[in-house]
Amino acid sequence: MSKKILLSGVKPTGRPHIGNYFGAMKQFVDMQNDYDSMFFIADYHALNFIQDGGEMKQQILDLMMDYLAIGLDPKKSLIYKQSDIPEHTELTWIFDTITTMPYLQRAHAYKDAEAKDKEISVGTFNYPMLMAADILMYDADVVPVGQDQKQHVEYARDTAQKFNFTFKNEVFKLPDAKIMEGVAVVPGTDGQKMSKSYGNTIPLFASDEEIEKAVMSIVTDSGSPEEGKLPQNVYNIHKLLKSEDELKSLYDENKGKYKVLKEALIEDLKNFIRPMREKREQLAGDTETVLEILKEGGKRAKAKAEKKMEQVREAIGVKLY
Ligand code: ADP
Ligand code: TRP
Repeated sequence: MSKKILLSGVKPTGRPHIGNYFGAMKQFVDMQNDYDSMFFIADYHALNFIQDGGEMKQQILDLMMDYLAIGLDPKKSLIYKQSDIPEHTELTWIFDTITTMPYLQRAHAYKDAEAKDKEISVGTFNYPMLMAADILMYDADVVPVGQDQKQHVEYARDTAQKFNFTFKNEVFKLPDAKIMEGVAVVPGTDGQKMSKSYGNTIPLFASDEEIEKAVMSIVTDSGSPEEGKLPQNVYNIHKLLKSEDELKSLYDENKGKYKVLKEALIEDLKNFIRPMREKREQLAGDTETVLEILKEGGKRAKAKAEKKMEQVREAIGVKLY
């Protein structure tokens, strides 16, 4: 029996932190064994935000190295970038012609931008259609995304149905969103959700010094460190790395000794991050190989997309020879 097709995309926008890792990236690595997996770099989506050629290049390369360093395996998963397959933008146009403005105006991302009184580009407005093309092009069954992207996967489902109905042809499969909520929200050094926008992160490929600095800055409970009080912000990060059983004796024996507990967390974070950081450094020293893998993935994905577009062009009636 063939495996189900799993597909997800990530915008290349910035250095990942351990919240991104436990909340999303690690789950991709785990899932690649159970599905026929495809992971791509959504560079044309990122073009709505990054409009500087040099920066775009660097961000794409960085994301590719991040993925290989955490263990996405090109032998198990197809890894590529969106812009290597121009069929994505071609299909977006076709979807545009069967999609109404009011329907796109209901998208959360659009409504949020509008509420903030931002001048919205046509690309941002149309974002859900490019995402529908990304997903439907490859007959994806399952699309793992964070809660905030769930609506976009529903747009893809609706668009598949609308196309199949309009052209009386079952060209597209209906995908399902798989909401990634396996782990609780990872707290940042200030106890709020770890997020790039709050400046409270522990970078995934942090150096030993960065780890020390970040952990030492973790806010412990204010007031006197009375006996028995658990430093929640330290503990909640620690339990991503060790089981609660393993941590119990450490935290029981060192009640109130925040410095000792932080030092233990620093040690465990260093051991956890080091192998991935070293792998990433090794990749950074051999970008030719990294780009070769990306290019190969693009060729394989393009072959699939070309096949699908033949069906699409046939269905809409533009394929005359
Ligand atoms: P950021 O908030 O740092 O900008 P993104 O919004 O780019 O992060 O999130 C990328 C992915 O990482 C999403 O799937 C999101 O759910 C996950 N993620 C981000 N921050 C956390 C966190 N603190 N805990 C768990 N998952 C997270
Ligand atoms: N919109 C997604 C995000 O911002 C990225 C993305 C683009 C995507 N195309 C996709 C995710 C297709 C899943 C499937 O995170």
